[in-house]
Amino acid sequence: MSSFATKAIHGLPHKVEAHGALRPPVYDSVAFEFKTSRDIQLAFEGRKPLHAYSRISNPTVDEFEQRVRLLADALGVIAVSSGMAAISNVIMALAEAGANLVTTRWIFGNTYSLFKQTFKPWGLKTRYVNMVNSVSLAAAIDDQTRAVFLEVITNPQLQVTDIDAIAKIAHQHNVPVVLDGTVTSPYLFRSKDHGVDVEVISSTKYISGGATSMGGLIVDNGIFDWSNNPKLRPFTKSFGSGAFLAYLRHEVYRNEGACLSPHNASLQTLGLETLSLRIDKSSANALAIAQWLHGQPKVRSVNYPQLDSYPEKELAARLFPRGVGGILTFDLASREQCYAFQDALQLVRRATNINDNKTLIIHPASTIFCEYSTEDKASMGVRDTMLRLSVGIEDVEDILEDLGRGLVAL
Ligand SMILES: Cc1ncc(COP(=O)(O)O)c(C=O)c1O
Repeated sequence: MSSFATKAIHGLPHKVEAHGALRPPVYDSVAFEFKTSRDIQLAFEGRKPLHAYSRISNPTVDEFEQRVRLLADALGVIAVSSGMAAISNVIMALAEAGANLVTTRWIFGNTYSLFKQTFKPWGLKTRYVNMVNSVSLAAAIDDQTRAVFLEVITNPQLQVTDIDAIAKIAHQHNVPVVLDGTVTSPYLFRSKDHGVDVEVISSTKYISGGATSMGGLIVDNGIFDWSNNPKLRPFTKSFGSGAFLAYLRHEVYRNEGACLSPHNASLQTLGLETLSLRIDKSSANALAIAQWLHGQPKVRSVNYPQLDSYPEKELAARLFPRGVGGILTFDLASREQCYAFQDALQLVRRATNINDNKTLIIHPASTIFCEYSTEDKASMGVRDTMLRLSVGIEDVEDILEDLGRGLVAL
């Protein structure tokens, strides 16, 4: 069984289900009982993969984790309550006060805020580099660096970087690469094949199957030698290559309590089954819309990694042979024009979120990035003239007709 869609639909080799249900049941139970005292002891010690309490593990969540593991060809996966929970769990597991994280300003606004504001009082430092510049990346890493963090295609700047080259530099310094693969998912980007050690994903987006539920994923690709990390070194003695996931499951993830609910895990497992269909359709729609916008005189510029005008088009084609997903940005003459354009739309929804089945539009500078100064926004690649479109899976002619309405209003 090798193709993505087949694996996504059937999951792991058949488990016998009590009633022959074809959909995995939702185990809506907080606690699980044990036949003997010895069994419950082994479960608590993590020496037997048995479920005891749903904040730590749950059979429905486990089914979702195993299906993602299969699709990503990873060592293991932990599902959490949101994409932000995935990022914070990973950083809490890898870093400590006095340590640093090497990243870029071109990342999702809340992730930027997490690193810059939330972690700061706990003594974690953040160093910002331009990921395109390998010399400045190498210079920023030292023996206190616990991770190089970046996004696969940055949101909303849509920058594509040579992830293999970045991984090579990080690994020369024995530092793991943590990649936010939300906008591609394992369907468009096999992070393991490009040297990524840990992938974090907001499964709220594509994977949830149409904005059905919040969720996040931590994927350990099994590449990194965790004995290089001072906090994980003791865990490698008992858990070997599984040290990172074991430390999360038995301490950080367990204690933070940001677990995925069984209901959300069930919705997201169903979402996986149609993932490739939906991504193919939204990517094709996005390319057609980007090309159409590119030809419109009132549109100053369009940013989409498959456009001929995109500076790293060849790199994007190499990294993402199946397409680059549904997000594009375009610039109009002013913020006022952006507002007039958005307000004239009748089909496209004015809403935050990405990778829904519905096409969504937002003005990032006045919403997701509203807490930042004009200078900060400029350094984060967020312009007042920019709109972000997250293209859904409607019929493309209908989306184009609506965008045409927006242009007429200018
Ligand atoms: C690239 C990226 N990473 C992480 C997140 C956070 O995900 P969540 O909203 O599930 O916490 C988002 C949310 O938009 C995102 O766009």
